[in-house]
Amino acid sequence: MTDLKPARILAVETSCDETACAIVENGRAMLSSVVASQMEIHARYGGVYPEVASRQHVLSIIPVVEQALAQAHLTLKDIDAIAVTQGPGLAGSLVVGMNMAKGLALGAGLPLVGVNHLEGHLYSAWVYEAGDTVPPEPQFPLMVLLVSGGHSELNLMTDHLMYQRLGSTLDDAAGEAFDKVSRLIELGYPGGPAIQKAAEEGDASRFQFPRAWLEGTYDFSFSGLKTAVLYEVRELKKKSGHLPVHDLAASFQKAVVDVLFKKTMDAAREFGAKEILVAGGVSANRALRQTFRAQTEFPVHIPPLSLCTDNAAMIASAGYYRFALGHVSGLDIDVLPTWPLSQVTA
Ligand code: KG4
Ligand code: ZN
Repeated sequence: MTDLKPARILAVETSCDETACAIVENGRAMLSSVVASQMEIHARYGGVYPEVASRQHVLSIIPVVEQALAQAHLTLKDIDAIAVTQGPGLAGSLVVGMNMAKGLALGAGLPLVGVNHLEGHLYSAWVYEAGDTVPPEPQFPLMVLLVSGGHSELNLMTDHLMYQRLGSTLDDAAGEAFDKVSRLIELGYPGGPAIQKAAEEGDASRFQFPRAWLEGTYDFSFSGLKTAVLYEVRELKKKSGHLPVHDLAASFQKAVVDVLFKKTMDAAREFGAKEILVAGGVSANRALRQTFRAQTEFPVHIPPLSLCTDNAAMIASAGYYRFALGHVSGLDIDVLPTWPLSQVTA
């Protein structure tokens, strides 16, 4: 993709509980990325509290944008377009970022590009820190496993902005399963990192938790696994009053990783993918990363840890490809709290 016009994109992301702004050049070179996390605030509620999230975005958004420009030593005059997460996400949170982005675009006379948050997660694999060695660019057709707090899906990406959905979760998303099981085994919020940490000292073969293979489909299901952990926890509490959290965490994590890995590999083979891409918050999981990296059949792209969870650099990257390929939105766009990747058009 050397023939796309060069452009610097400033992106704003406020779909959930991170207020983020980043500047990325030509879809790949990250000049700055600022993420103001609300994690500690929501931890006391055991999950994201939407009303609190939007109020917090209002407080953080202007300093976060100013910081992203300052970090990159740029002003709005150096920017070619504004990208913003349009959805999916929490309506009250999305609106704050959208209004900020519209204000910036209008004030600076710049085009505005609305980006799907899930598309953003996929593009996090294109991003690298400016000045670092340029990592290889993902090659199409690309088998894409997207695993976040709200979504788990397998897509075949045939070109930039072109997604063919092969399957998705029938119930809980992978990240949601981590969060719920973490609560069950009393490890708290956010669940993914807590389970990963506990699992590192655990025996993954101690509990034989079920794997929902859903043969003949590329769909996922994690609610049976969650229920199996619940029953085991009840049983253990009744018997000894003590929870072997490390072994429970390791056995649960192994069950999730086994399913995500095998289904992605099968899909990559069946659809003739050249490479594999894993993205979304759960792609930060060390066991999942190691499992994909250990195989040699397909080159694998997994974003750096800082870009796995919500950030604006990924929105700037997806925004660049939209902008460069002629998909400018106009200032009249509205937020789309429910917006599946399958409805994103090139
Ligand atoms: O992509 P993300 O930041 O937000 C959404 O768009 O949903 O994903 C957040 C999810 C949470 O469910 C969190 O528990 C999970 O990603 N997560 C992890 C890890 N880090 C974050 N899951 C497993 N292992 C991790 N290390
Ligand atoms: Zn996300």
